[in-house]
Amino acid sequence: MKVEKVELRMEVYDSPMEAPAVFSSLLDAARKAMATAYAPFSGFSVGAAVLLEDGMVVCGSNQENSSFPQGLCAERVALFAAGAQFPHTPVQAIAVIASEMDESWISPCGGCRQVMVETEKRYGKAVSIILTNSLGQIAVVKPVSQLLPWCFDGHLLKR
Ligand code: THU
Repeated sequence: MKVEKVELRMEVYDSPMEAPAVFSSLLDAARKAMATAYAPFSGFSVGAAVLLEDGMVVCGSNQENSSFPQGLCAERVALFAAGAQFPHTPVQAIAVIASEMDESWISPCGGCRQVMVETEKRYGKAVSIILTNSLGQIAVVKPVSQLLPWCFDGHLLKR
């Protein structure tokens, strides 16, 4: 038996001022998008902002439904909106913020991570994810696929 370790490399900035401007302004866009959340069932609003390679920013927020499984997370709303409107423009980064946060990083769900990994594969380019916490720190993880080791890979699907 041998033990294999998976490493996660993240850049941590103690304040938005310390972080590269492109990341802190993407987080600001995500914060604004959070105001559009429809989250009457959880009371947990999430905002996401996707930065495309040409500088365009596409935002999303979580959209819930009284038939619970029908809702969608902010990250997927933003990524699918970007894919639907600008299918040929690679995604560079996604920022995520929530209305309820503690000192640990806001952490995207597994389903959204899978979609983020597929976004990297689709365009053949690493995507940065910008996260924050209640202390106002900013973390940058690139490539985002580090957040989902051994994720499902569709290469064996019959086409
Ligand atoms: N949610 C997101 O929007 N993003 C995540 O990464 C995790 C959870 C939403 C889904 C639901 O509307 C609410 O937060 C509570 O789970």
